[in-house]
Amino acid sequence: MKALTWQGKRTIEYADVPDPRIEEPTDAVIRVTSTGICGSDLHLYAVMGPFLDAGDVLGHEVIGRVGETGTGVTNLSVGDRVVVPFQIACGSCFMCGQGLQTQCETTQVRDQGMGAALFGYTKLYGQVPGGQAEYPRVPQAQYGPIKVPHGPPDDRFVYLSDVLPTAWQAVEYAGIPAGGTVVVLGLGPIGDMACRVALHRGHRVIGVDLVAERLERARVRGVETLEYADDVADAIRDLTDGRGPDSVIEAVGMEAHGSPTAKIAQQAAALLPDPIQRTVMQKAGIDRLAALLLAIDVVRRGGTISLIGVYGGMADPLPMLTMFDKQIQLRMGQANVRRWTKDILPLLGDDDPLQVDDFATHHLPLSEGPAAYELFQHKRDGAIKVLLTP
Ligand SMILES: NC(=O)c1ccc[n+]([C@@H]2O[C@H](COP(=O)([O-])OP(=O)(O)OC[C@H]3O[C@@H](n4cnc5c(N)ncnc54)[C@H](O)[C@@H]3O)[C@@H](O)[C@H]2O)c1
Ligand SMILES: [Zn+2]
Ligand SMILES: [Zn+2]
Repeated sequence: MKALTWQGKRTIEYADVPDPRIEEPTDAVIRVTSTGICGSDLHLYAVMGPFLDAGDVLGHEVIGRVGETGTGVTNLSVGDRVVVPFQIACGSCFMCGQGLQTQCETTQVRDQGMGAALFGYTKLYGQVPGGQAEYPRVPQAQYGPIKVPHGPPDDRFVYLSDVLPTAWQAVEYAGIPAGGTVVVLGLGPIGDMACRVALHRGHRVIGVDLVAERLERARVRGVETLEYADDVADAIRDLTDGRGPDSVIEAVGMEAHGSPTAKIAQQAAALLPDPIQRTVMQKAGIDRLAALLLAIDVVRRGGTISLIGVYGGMADPLPMLTMFDKQIQLRMGQANVRRWTKDILPLLGDDDPLQVDDFATHHLPLSEGPAAYELFQHKRDGAIKVLLTP
């Protein structure tokens, strides 16, 4: 089959890879109709190279039809329309029982000391071939895939795999009080959707980014927007009685703009051989922390930071004195996809309150994936969300 494979830093190839087959009774093979490129894929594209091998299949946002099922998958039939969560979880272990599907004890990548396996997301997460492909194999299909109705466009449901539950969890974890204010840092797909969810729940939302069309897209929906700049913390305080917002959602992650020293460290690490780079990344602090530090600076005393942007350093320097003194509450992690499905599905009707139907800015064939990655990374041509069609 055809798939998008990682071949090296900023090199994606549309290539032939082996056809998948059912390997476990709980597997299914899904015939993909649409698959997204995520901000998390951009970390693989640019920074996380040491954790990938040339030829790894990328991608973790999938909608399609069930093509084949193992004997243990009794809840799905061939032809069903399904969305596949980005994490692989069993649904029946202790952690899944707590709604912590990202910590699934059946799929945890123990030899790396990591949580649940993820599709297309490095050796740290099990090196499972991803979903930017024609027919990915989906393990734990007795639980993971979400059945959705035939009829509406793929855009209606595809975000159940990642963007929607991630934004939903970001808002839940932000603990925004009734009548409270949330600042959302980063207005990529995740930050943008978090704004939509927070507005839908009646909160006051202030959004920060550097990209004009992303700011504008949030502004027209009712977000108060600020352009990221050196004095943005003061601008946020000016809008929040000098006190700061009740909650901050950090939807930027490890490649934040405004961290020159760490950017140099990331670039320097990239020049080392892979095994050494891996050690440096796992033992040292090389995340670009500008957005997280901004969150710590501006959140009001006793407020909550919901960290949804992905980080990868093991010893990042953090201002513990300030965090402790301000009594900040910090919640984070990969989104527990299936935990939020029931809450989100009622918002995916024809009235489309979150306007998912036109959330994507670009629809391209899977074969144009290499160019699509470049477009999204450089935020060219107004690219905010790109969906690919095999
Ligand atoms: N926790 C999860 O389960 C989960 C799931 C999906 C994505 N993510 C992560 O969420 C983050 C955002 O993903 P995305 O798809 O929206 O990607 P994205 O790269 O399109 O969005 C990041 C946005 O942050 C902006 N930005 C950069 N530096 C900034 C700064 N200092 N202040 C404010 N804004 C800044 C960028 O201009 C960009 O618009 C990524 O780190 C991604 O890995 C996490
Ligand atoms: Zn993702
Ligand atoms: Zn489990």
